[in-house]
Amino acid sequence: MLRYEDRGHGPAVVLLHGFPLSRRIWAGQIDHLSRRYRVVAPDLPGLGESEPLPDSEPPTMLAMARRVLELLDYLKIDRAAVAGHSMGGYVSLALQKEAPHRVAGLALVCSQARSDAPEARQARFVLAERVMQEGAQVAADALAPRLFGPRVTERSEVYQETLALMRASRPEGVRAALLAMADRENMRPHLVTITVPSLVLAGEADAIIPLERAECMAANMANAILVKVPGAGHMPMLEAPEAVSEALDWWLELVY
Ligand code: MLT
Repeated sequence: MLRYEDRGHGPAVVLLHGFPLSRRIWAGQIDHLSRRYRVVAPDLPGLGESEPLPDSEPPTMLAMARRVLELLDYLKIDRAAVAGHSMGGYVSLALQKEAPHRVAGLALVCSQARSDAPEARQARFVLAERVMQEGAQVAADALAPRLFGPRVTERSEVYQETLALMRASRPEGVRAALLAMADRENMRPHLVTITVPSLVLAGEADAIIPLERAECMAANMANAILVKVPGAGHMPMLEAPEAVSEALDWWLELVY
């Protein structure tokens, strides 16, 4: 069973974190949303406090999504609004495809629907090997300088805390997440089938997933609103927590 936070009462909202992070990135939104909703924020397999997937199970977005569905079963939540950040967005899309009846609304935060280009995929395999030899800090140190927009400097507290969170990840969990991302399905053809109220949120200064991908996803979804957060990079929930909470409020008004 995944480790998780379950806070508040009311219609359910699930928050899925990105790579190689944990549910802690959503702390501000958990505080805010739990005043009106039941907020469930798990640590994805092998990250944060959650156990990795067993060796017998190939790491995929679907395997992670199934763990989230098992958690919802355990918590007796039939249907939830699901929001995913970056890799958490890939898991959210896999979950929505696997069990559309359980998803009341979908929010993709600094995420994308497409799969990796061949070079990017190859780079993930190389990094996965290095992580097993040298530790999770290799992935953390590679990602950190590209995570934030120009307002967050290397010396700032949020930068250092996020770096420490990523460096503390278990190498096996980081490797599994990299392999799962490298092999993820292209979900672009699936987007047109998603009709529940959706939010596509992007940081205007995201150096990891370009803004055009968010614009393209929103245009391909039947019922999506697009919110761009000025000045924010790939971590708007930390860089502009109020703007992100406000956008999630707006989306959840449409969902429930
Ligand atoms: C993430 O933030 O979850 C990852 O950087 C996404 C990715 O590498 O595709």
